[in-house]
Amino acid sequence: MSETIEKSQTERINEKHQKHIFNAVFNYYETPLPLQRGRGVHLYDFDGREYLDFFAGIVTVNVGHCHPKVTAAIQDQAATLAHTSTLYPTAPIVELAEKLAEITPGDLNRTFFTTSGTEANETAVLLAQLATGSQTIVALRHSYSGRSSVARSLSGQAPWKMQPNQIASIVHAPAPYCYRCPFKLTYPECGVACAEDLEELIVTSTPGVVAGFLAETILGAGGFIVPPQEYFPIAVDIIRRHGGLFIADEVQTGFGRTGGAWFGIEHTGVEPDIITMAKGIANGAPLGATITRDDLADRFNPGLSISTFGGSPLASAASYASISVIEEEGLLDNAAQVGTHLSQRLNELKERFQVIGDVRGMGLMQAIELVKNRETKEPAPDVAVQLMEETKARSLLVGKGGLYGNVLRIGPPLNITTDQIDQGVDALIASFEALE
Ligand SMILES: Cc1ncc(COP(=O)(O)O)c(C=O)c1O
Repeated sequence: MSETIEKSQTERINEKHQKHIFNAVFNYYETPLPLQRGRGVHLYDFDGREYLDFFAGIVTVNVGHCHPKVTAAIQDQAATLAHTSTLYPTAPIVELAEKLAEITPGDLNRTFFTTSGTEANETAVLLAQLATGSQTIVALRHSYSGRSSVARSLSGQAPWKMQPNQIASIVHAPAPYCYRCPFKLTYPECGVACAEDLEELIVTSTPGVVAGFLAETILGAGGFIVPPQEYFPIAVDIIRRHGGLFIADEVQTGFGRTGGAWFGIEHTGVEPDIITMAKGIANGAPLGATITRDDLADRFNPGLSISTFGGSPLASAASYASISVIEEEGLLDNAAQVGTHLSQRLNELKERFQVIGDVRGMGLMQAIELVKNRETKEPAPDVAVQLMEETKARSLLVGKGGLYGNVLRIGPPLNITTDQIDQGVDALIASFEALE
């Protein structure tokens, strides 16, 4: 009998990944899950098994996998003009820039396109520094801003830093993390002390003037931490009094993710000076964008700055199509309605399972924080790992995050239905039961 056993495609991919990709590029699950194709809210492995996707490629595939309109736009553009660099204006880049000016709040009108959220944040920081003449940036603890030197210095989580901050002029404010309040206070009696603390931070840890405040409107990788309603009005007022600009990092929260609005910051009434975007902007095509007002954009001159692939015709066409689908299919409203239902269902789970310490989120960006003990709130990352395996076994894909690795993150495509949410929540319930 032959000793040779034919390897499956799944095994071949996993072996090659282990052999040729940096170990730092980690995969979910004890046995990683190569995926072959996707359609709508579903992904399929190489054995044809269907998974309900509750994480959408890290809250990126906002209109569902391989949406026919986005696919057609990419195909048409690829057959027409794939690349010119920004040395030549193209129709897709200007159409998209005009669209972004239309859907962003306030007077934001001019965009610098790149290929990732990291670069979008780099651009925003440089712009704030050039525009104000100050170098100092205030960032948030528990934040994640990307993987460049500036972005790792901005990020407020040790595991993502890898090295000491290389940018000395960044200071970190306490996170508006009510469940683990840095001041051990309770909202609303706290008076939003985390926002008020920015004053103290600036006058004690900076030269007293700052270039800007870069903050996610919901802290994504930090575990979908939702700041209290008053947080941004108070914090941004303090920043502006010290000469700084407000940069809203909407890389995770943009394009309808929070429900009922294009951008998370719109729920607060605060108008940012700069917004950074990526992920959901183009449903998976690599695109980053930094949008600002005309007067500020002008401060980026003189000087040369280019992104060869930034706003490529392909990515821009994908983005325009994806935004059009969000409009045509009413996905801002769907995210709000279905998100409310999801939140209610997750709060029911919290009643049932003691290991759930907190349920939080907005729209289709909802998190479950797992703890060993509800009193001490000791994080339970081991339970998160087990739940990842249990949900996968039930054909449900969820995300994980938080500084302590103890937060399940749920962020499906925005066109998911209530029935599909229920199906996923039932799989979650069965997974929690399996652990009991
Ligand atoms: C809020 C936020 N900002 C920036 C980034 C960096 O984006 P990218 O991975 O596209 O460089 C991320 C990525 O997860 C993010 O979540």
